[in-house]
Amino acid sequence: MAERTLAIIKPDAVKKKAAGKIIQRIEEEGFTISALKMLHITKEEAEGFYAVHKDKPFFNSVTDFMSSGPIIVMILEGESAINHWRRVMGKTDPAMAEPGTLRHSYGFDIQFNGMHGSDAPETATFEIGYFFKDE
Ligand code: TYD
Ligand code: MG
Repeated sequence: MAERTLAIIKPDAVKKKAAGKIIQRIEEEGFTISALKMLHITKEEAEGFYAVHKDKPFFNSVTDFMSSGPIIVMILEGESAINHWRRVMGKTDPAMAEPGTLRHSYGFDIQFNGMHGSDAPETATFEIGYFFKDE
């Protein structure tokens, strides 16, 4: 089923100039990039985005990190885009991510893991609306 997901190239991957390679992989995987922008979110915006994790021990550090530098947010479209993109990223912890996945290639550790992807249709709808309010 054709669906949409939200992908983010996180501050660490932008900083290490991996964005081009990540976008190339997205295109090679067959996704359609239907929206894309670079922005530098505030701590408060990062807290709103990760609100589902507000009681987790890593909430403060992950929201500091996500607001620490520019990010690239994209809407990816395609067949089973949500699961497809999560497979291409690999596991949350790059140390556990399989060779060939983007987090294996470009992630550093469980926090500095390079990319984000929505995990379900409801979160994709929320996350797309969070960054692309007009669409
Ligand atoms: P989560 O939704 O569990 O992972 P994913 O990004 O694969 O959907 O967590 C959100 C982000 O929070 C994760 O990408 C990186 C950060 N995080 C940590 O910093 N420490 C942790 O122990 C976990 C689980 C996540
Ligand atoms: Mg998640």
